[in-house]
Amino acid sequence: MAYETATPRRKFGRSIRYLDRQMPKEVRITMTQHPTSLDDIHDQIWRMLDEAAATRHHGFHLPTLATVSKNGEPAARIVVLRGADRAGRYITCHTDARAPKVVQIDGQSLSAWVFYDAEARVQVRALGRVAVLDPAVDPFAREAWQGTNLSSRRCYMAPSAPSSKCDAPSPNLPENVRDRLPTEAEAQAGMVNFRVLKATIENLDYLHLAHDGHIRARFVYDGNGEAVSTWLEP
Ligand SMILES: Cc1cc2nc3c(=O)[nH]c(=O)nc-3n(C[C@H](O)[C@H](O)[C@H](O)COP(=O)(O)O)c2cc1C
Repeated sequence: MAYETATPRRKFGRSIRYLDRQMPKEVRITMTQHPTSLDDIHDQIWRMLDEAAATRHHGFHLPTLATVSKNGEPAARIVVLRGADRAGRYITCHTDARAPKVVQIDGQSLSAWVFYDAEARVQVRALGRVAVLDPAVDPFAREAWQGTNLSSRRCYMAPSAPSSKCDAPSPNLPENVRDRLPTEAEAQAGMVNFRVLKATIENLDYLHLAHDGHIRARFVYDGNGEAVSTWLEP
């Protein structure tokens, strides 16, 4: 998805003359097509999240998820965006039940997610309340487990809890599936460790970088799930 188009320099007037002094001659200056309304931006955010969940090379596919421990210590890590649903106002990722982040989420369910698409030059920050869903009891998580491939399932067969200390570098995989994928039957053993983190979004913060001025907006969901939107100074 492209947001920038090449535009004749004279359209920029004074600001481009200023940029000309900063940049080598061969740099091609482009003008950004900003989304024209808050509604357009809101649509764009959810469209990007939806596309990213299904597209490996999308800039939003690997967000940073930040949580806070009970003693207030922040922790951030990359996760794979697995799903986004505008109507349900949630985004999801998958993790191991034994991971430290799950313990943190149990204590303090607020999470922050940061997405950046370098091509679109769009950053989205989302604040979400996370639920940890177990496929043994939750149909949504069960469906997510059924949608995983054998390579993903193998990760959940790890004999030790993620982040536990070990004496030497370790892939934390059962010996018999180190060099091959598990069979369907073998991989089923991983389900006990599989969890879906489902974050219900409370607000979204949007930043679009552009040579001719950045654009920023915020969307806060009210009690009815309606987005209350406003422009912000970048
Ligand atoms: C590209 C990439 C994708 C990752 N995806 C996930 C993921 O979807 N879920 C997950 O739990 N960890 C994922 N990780 C590992 C986490 O970043 C982190 O190292 C691990 O989950 C331990 O985090 P914790 O100690 O805070 O629980 C990913 C790491 C990278 C580099």
